Amino acid sequence: VIAAVEPIALGVNGSRHALQADPKTPLLDVLREMLRLKGTRLGCGEGECGACHVLVDGRSQASCTLTLEAVAGRQVTTVEGLDAGLREAFVAEQAAQCGYCSSGLLIAAAALLRERPAPTEAEVRAALDPHLCRCGAHPRVVRAVLRAARGGAR
Ligand code: FES
Ligand code: FES
Repeated sequence: VIAAVEPIALGVNGSRHALQADPKTPLLDVLREMLRLKGTRLGCGEGECGACHVLVDGRSQASCTLTLEAVAGRQVTTVEGLDAGLREAFVAEQAAQCGYCSSGLLIAAAALLRERPAPTEAEVRAALDPHLCRCGAHPRVVRAVLRAARGGAR
């Protein structure tokens, strides 16, 4: 007899969910496969590249290495749940080439702007540093984050 799995509560982009899944399921899979939020991307799968970052209670974290049980009862924000002003600043500065890294960078930027609404360029660079971009878009991303800060984006 297989014991019924207790649903695990999770807040995502302002909605509450009760998820029936293996507690060890990576948060990334919960978001992409169960909730169909495809903006969060799988890169390295080992917590090293930043492609899969989401906000967990406002902090930018890798969703590939967090399990569902580790985030039970917490509030997760994915790129789909971010302020439009930040996304618009990325578009205005053309801050992407292939765009694969973009959602993770947007999340890092959002976490920074919530803590430091008017960051220095050095602070922006430091916040983005853990995020790999194979296309070399970082200089434009830095400009986009500074533009978003001037525009009051969060
Ligand atoms: S895919 Fe999660 S950090 Fe690279
Ligand atoms: S825009 Fe291609 S990896 Fe960053």
